[in-house]
Amino acid sequence: MDYHELEEAMAGLIGGVPHPTANLANASALIWETLPELNWAGFYLEEEDGKGGRQLVLGPFQGRPACIEIPWGRGVCGTAAAAGKTQLVPDVHLFPGHIACDAASASEIVVPLKREDGSVFGVMDLDSPIRGRFTEDDRDGLERIARLIEREMREAF
Ligand code: SME
Repeated sequence: MDYHELEEAMAGLIGGVPHPTANLANASALIWETLPELNWAGFYLEEEDGKGGRQLVLGPFQGRPACIEIPWGRGVCGTAAAAGKTQLVPDVHLFPGHIACDAASASEIVVPLKREDGSVFGVMDLDSPIRGRFTEDDRDGLERIARLIEREMREAF
């Protein structure tokens, strides 16, 4: 997969657009139509959980309807958010606490989205029905895409 092309297309699509929801919707659509063998691609965003803590809430995505609220630190998404580190999971059935929104998902990669101060404001989540679908190349490429999205979202988050 040539992530350089995806990066250029993403920059052209969301660069300079001052509408965060539109940008995340278009970003998920571009990832969905560009990367093969996905069954879900989208975003979860940070919100207060009403109990003094934080949670992730479903944002723009492509794929089947998904879980709406994910506690910070739970599942692959919540772990990526709490750790501030990409979670590359070759087999979701072996990940303790994995949240199965779609039984067809077999592997997953979740990249945290950060503000300039390093705090996490959301995650980018990709699922695949194929075990071991995501490689270190995907991790590098998707982290570059995440940096681009962060830059374009800076005003909003
Ligand atoms: N599997 C994720 C939940 C979100 S869905 O994959 C869209 C998790 O364990 O956090």
